[in-house]
Amino acid sequence: MSDSLQWGGRFEAAPDAALLAFGSSLEDDLVLAAFDVACSQAHVATLAASRIIDVGTAYALDAALRMIADEIPSGEFAAQARASGAEDVHGAIEARVRTIAPAAGEWLHAGRSRNDQVATTLALYARDRATRGARICATIAQFALASARQALADETVLAATTHWQPAQPILLAFWLGAVAEMFLRATRRFNRVAADAREFCPLGSGACSGSTLPLDRGVAVHELDFGAPSRNALDAIGDRDIALDLLHAVARATLSASRVSEELVLWCAPAFGYARLDDAASTGSSLMPQKRNPDPFELVRAAASSANGSYTAALASLDGLALSYHRDLQETKAQVIRGTERGLAALEAFAAALPHVGWNAEAMESRAGDGYVVATDIADALIARGVSARQAHLLVGNAVSIAEKAGRALTQRDLTALAKKAKLAEPFKAPLDALASVRAKQTTGSTSPAAVKRALDELEEVLEREAGNSPR
Ligand code: ARG
Repeated sequence: MSDSLQWGGRFEAAPDAALLAFGSSLEDDLVLAAFDVACSQAHVATLAASRIIDVGTAYALDAALRMIADEIPSGEFAAQARASGAEDVHGAIEARVRTIAPAAGEWLHAGRSRNDQVATTLALYARDRATRGARICATIAQFALASARQALADETVLAATTHWQPAQPILLAFWLGAVAEMFLRATRRFNRVAADAREFCPLGSGACSGSTLPLDRGVAVHELDFGAPSRNALDAIGDRDIALDLLHAVARATLSASRVSEELVLWCAPAFGYARLDDAASTGSSLMPQKRNPDPFELVRAAASSANGSYTAALASLDGLALSYHRDLQETKAQVIRGTERGLAALEAFAAALPHVGWNAEAMESRAGDGYVVATDIADALIARGVSARQAHLLVGNAVSIAEKAGRALTQRDLTALAKKAKLAEPFKAPLDALASVRAKQTTGSTSPAAVKRALDELEEVLEREAGNSPR
C-alpha cells in the first residue's frame, strides 16, 4: 500500500497511474483544508472522550493538526499535499499528520470515513462562505441604501424603461432602492444557509451506517458548534442539500449583480450617459487610445453565468444518483466549490466597483420626460374623472400619436383637447413632466418621494437586523 493512499491492503496490483490522476480531487478540494483540520480536531476530541485513543495520542494528533493549520495560509501545506500524491485534501492531511506524528497518526482515521468527513467539511465550508456572502451582500445593500438617500434628497429623476423602451418616470433613489432590496434578499438567503449549515453534524456517521466504536457524537457537535448529531447516517453522508443551498444562494446573488451590471454597462455608454465609472475602475484599449470600458461590470455579468453553470452542473451530477455515497459526489463538490469561489469573487468585485460609479443627473433629467412617459398619468387622471380605463387608454394613445407625428411632447393643450373628447364638464390636471409625475404617485411602494422615503426607512431597519444576523 502506498503511504499517500488511504486504502490498498486488499489490492495486488498497483493503481493505474492515469486513472488515479483522473480520480484526484486535490486541486478542487484544497480550499477545504482548514475546515478538514477543524473537522479532524473534533474527531480526535471524540476519539479521546470516547476512550478509543489515549491522551498522549490525542495530544500528538492535535499538535500535528495545529501545525498543519499553521502551514495552510502560506501555501506550504498545499505544496506538501501536491507532492504527497494524495487523492484528495482528506488523504493529504492524514498523510501529513502521519509524517509529523507517525505513531499517533495511525489512529486518526479510527471510526471515520471520508464520507462523513466530506459531508462535515462541506457543512463547515458552507457556513463560512454563506457568512461571507451575507457580509458582502449586506455591504452592497447598505451602499445602495446610502446612495438612494442622497439621490432622494436631490430628487433626481429618469425615465424607467420596460423592454428598454421609455415607460414611466422614476426617482434615481427608487432605482437604487430596488438594488438595495435585491441585496437585502440575497443577504437573508445567505443567512438562512449559514443557519441551516449549523443544524446537524454528519461526523460520526462513518461510511454509511454508523460505527461499532462507541463514538460520543456530542463531542463533535459541541466542538464544531452544530445543533445536534445527524439522525440518519445513510442520509447524512450522501446529502448535499446544504452545499447546493450555498451554491444556489451564490448563484442567485450573482444573478442580481449581473442584472444590475447589465444596466450599468448600458448607462455608462455615451449613448446613455447616465453614469460614469471613474478611472480607477475602468480599463482602456490596447489599440484605441480614447477608450474607457466598464470591464468590472462585464466580468461580473459573465462570472454570474459561470456560477449559474456550476449550479446547474452540481444539480445534474446528483440527478438519478441513488442514496449513500457515490464517487459522482466528488464532481458535485468540485462544482459547488468552483461556483462558490468564482461567484463570491464576483460579488466582492461588484461591491468594490459600485462606489466608483458617478451618476449624471443632468443626462438623466434632460431625457426623463422623453418618450411620452407621462401618458399613463394622464390616462389615470381621466379615469379619476370618471372616464373608463379603456376609453382613457384609447384617447391618450391617440393624443400621443398626434404629438409624435408633430415631433413634440404632450402639453397643456393636449389636456384641454382630451377633456373635450372625453366630454368632461371641466378641464383636468395631469402631470406633464417627469418630476410632477413621480410626485403625483399615490401608492405604497411607488416612486413618489414620500413612498420612497418610507420604503428606505423600512428597508434600513430590516437590513440592520439581517446584517447583524449573519453568524460568525
Ligand atoms: N475525494 C472523495 C470526494 O471528494 C473523497 C471521498 C471518497 N470516498 C469514497 N468512498 N471513495 O468525494
